[in-house]
Amino acid sequence: MTTRVRPLPEPFRIKMVEPIRLAPPDQRRRALQQAGWNLFLLDAEDVYIDLLTDSGTGAMSDRQWAGLMLGDESYAGSRNYLHLRDTVRELFGYPYTIPTHQGRGAEQILFPELVTRALARRPDVQPVFISNFHFDTTKAHVEMAGARALNVLTPRATDTADPYPWKGNFDLDALRAAIAQHGAASVAGIVATLTCNSAGGQPVSMDNLAAVREIATRHGIPVVLDVARYAENAWFIRERDPAWAGASIAEIVRAMFDLGDMFTMSAKKDGLVNIGGLCCFRDDEDLFRAVQARCVPMEGFVTYGGLAGRDMEALAVGLRESLQQEYLDYRIGQVAYLGERLQQQGIPIQTPTGGHAVFVDARRMLPHIPAHRFPAHSLAVALYLEGGVRAVEIGSLLLGRNPLTGEQEPAPMELLRLTIPRRTYTHSHMDYVADVFGDLRRMAATLPGYDFEWEPAVLRHFTARLKPVACDGGAAAAQSRESAAQAQPA
Ligand code: F0G
Repeated sequence: MTTRVRPLPEPFRIKMVEPIRLAPPDQRRRALQQAGWNLFLLDAEDVYIDLLTDSGTGAMSDRQWAGLMLGDESYAGSRNYLHLRDTVRELFGYPYTIPTHQGRGAEQILFPELVTRALARRPDVQPVFISNFHFDTTKAHVEMAGARALNVLTPRATDTADPYPWKGNFDLDALRAAIAQHGAASVAGIVATLTCNSAGGQPVSMDNLAAVREIATRHGIPVVLDVARYAENAWFIRERDPAWAGASIAEIVRAMFDLGDMFTMSAKKDGLVNIGGLCCFRDDEDLFRAVQARCVPMEGFVTYGGLAGRDMEALAVGLRESLQQEYLDYRIGQVAYLGERLQQQGIPIQTPTGGHAVFVDARRMLPHIPAHRFPAHSLAVALYLEGGVRAVEIGSLLLGRNPLTGEQEPAPMELLRLTIPRRTYTHSHMDYVADVFGDLRRMAATLPGYDFEWEPAVLRHFTARLKPVACDGGAAAAQSRESAAQAQPA
């Protein structure tokens, strides 16, 4: 395959620029060594193209920036809150809105209340939440609220070569089995993550979501939508489900939200803002009041929830902008473009590409590195050293040890996430990233694995300090890296 796909041109022109710079190779190596080979510990200025996350890293539009000037910073009843609440009601059909500082702020005030309700039904059983896949902070807040987080993702998601279009779907049989096993009264909520970040930004189909809704209703279980990437999920439904081919994104979004009872949103993704979140309810006013009561001491008063008035204004505008068809065509087209360029060079990726990221299959690309030597982290280090590009490991390093045995178990997938910020990088940046991967493919067999120099007990991937270690074919490279590292002043 040599044909070069042509991505859709960016549907915007640029009126402000932020310079970025590729630090020289020896400076990159020194920076990474000082950071304990952990990309989270780098200074952002030492990164050329930052694909760590799509969260809070997007560019706002001129209209959003104009909205910042309209901030009403009243402590209570700000007009920007009213604008945000009315926008949520209009776009999603949910009349009860609580702003939060980001997605995890919504999780921390909602989940304890759902757990309290489950315990009122069955005081003798530990409540559970069941999801297609809980995002890490979502799982953390489930556990901090005293419940357990179960994932029932379609098994087709773990075969990265399978072109299945709905890799975010719930495995409905596994969902029914989990409800039967734990008892419906103890299921505090079913969390539908749209799109499913952990599976590779993969969509949930409307049929699957409707089936989840039907099962939940039958058992009296509330459906919580985790809608960080609601617009991207809707775009995939329009693209891939003939029943929705003629519908607008706004109509599809509304149909998706009609299938939930409440939602938590990290507005830092499809909300197109740098900070913000939402916790909203369709008709359960009692629950809304109870969660509002938790909001005050945790996030702030109920009409600002940790946000400035101007932040809420920018969010009200962003929620609407992300529904634009031409924006989404370009946005998801850019992700697909990077994926196609990588595949043309024989780089194995999760297929089809998702909405916000390309996930490289490091297990297939670096088969000589075992799970406990973190192949996707090895690839992340090489990507930074070769090209100044920062990406993030989603595999055994992120997974951590089994809390009961202390053993490192292999993650179901060893992925490197190339996460694309919204409206921030151009297609020529994507070409650059793809070209660096061409070099990485040639040196793949020589890349080393990584071991801990210091391993924190929880959420270790953020702060751990690592060191390269030889892995079969990687021996020579590991040694040369180590001796290079020793030659550099720390
Ligand atoms: N839910 C999903 C599906 C997410 O992807 C995230 C964040 C959250 C909830 C939490 O939201 O960060 O605003 O508190 N995902 C980011 C990421 C951090 O890089 O994927 P938050």
